[in-house]
Amino acid sequence: MKVNALHENDIIEIIFYACFAFFLMGTVMVLFFYFSRKKIIQKELEKKDLEIQYQKELLSAVIITQEEERKRIAQDLHDDISSKLNIVSLNSHLLNTPNLSREEVTEITANIINLTTKALDNSRKIAHGLLPPVLDKFGLHAGVEELCLEFRSSKVINVNYDNKVLFDMEENDKHLHVFRILQELMNNSLRHGKATVISILFENTKEGKICYYSDNGIGFDLDNNKNQKGLGMKNIQSRVAFLKGIITIDSAINNGISVVFNF
Ligand SMILES: Nc1ncnc2c1ncn2[C@@H]1O[C@H](COP(=O)(O)OP(=O)(O)OP(=O)(O)O)[C@@H](O)[C@H]1O
Ligand SMILES: [Mg+2]
Repeated sequence: MKVNALHENDIIEIIFYACFAFFLMGTVMVLFFYFSRKKIIQKELEKKDLEIQYQKELLSAVIITQEEERKRIAQDLHDDISSKLNIVSLNSHLLNTPNLSREEVTEITANIINLTTKALDNSRKIAHGLLPPVLDKFGLHAGVEELCLEFRSSKVINVNYDNKVLFDMEENDKHLHVFRILQELMNNSLRHGKATVISILFENTKEGKICYYSDNGIGFDLDNNKNQKGLGMKNIQSRVAFLKGIITIDSAINNGISVVFNF
């Protein structure tokens, strides 16, 4: 009988410890899940914060560029058009002066013709800068061809351009972004990369239309903050985002740059 009682106590003790162990394990597991979940949520929040920060940077880059563009257009209009039209206006009033000699009238008229021709030329240049007419009339392919010709004419750089895509003129608004991206990339290759060869290729793939761009210039360190101060690359990123595409930029010192984006 005494042996049996001992046995029962042992069993109760074992059950008690087992329950306690289970309870402890359960608590540890609950705490573990709670803290790991908290950590995951915190990480997600940090990621979201970074994304928002990045979007803000892109947006401010777009706004700054817009303002700079407006300033440039205002300056062009002021210096190249307004000042000339002012003199044209003065000359036109002069024509009303009584007793002008024939020579004076001829001189004033020549002045007016000369200045209006210049103002017309300049207004055309300003308009072309805003929307390249070739792109508008003949589409992206013709626009890029003309861009390549302009760069080749500098004689310091050669451009290989290959296009395997038929661009729909209905999408010209979208294509203007692609044109501006290439314009910026090419300017950078010439200005910073000191490249002598640029290659551009358009191709159709499963991901849509893809543009491959590369140069053989001096390249740069993508992670160096010094190289993240300009607006050009930020604008490129926001244009690609606008096109709902993805962009990959690769570069290393002495290894040129290669850029791939879809649109
Ligand atoms: N093709 C390239 N070869 C070498 N360095 C480049 C090239 N493209 C960009 N970089 C480097 O990256 C930096 C950032 O380029 P980004 O176009 O954003 O600015 P930026 O050209 O300096 O100024 P912005 O475009 O605003 O006039 C450049 O200053 C340059 O150091
Ligand atoms: Mg630039």
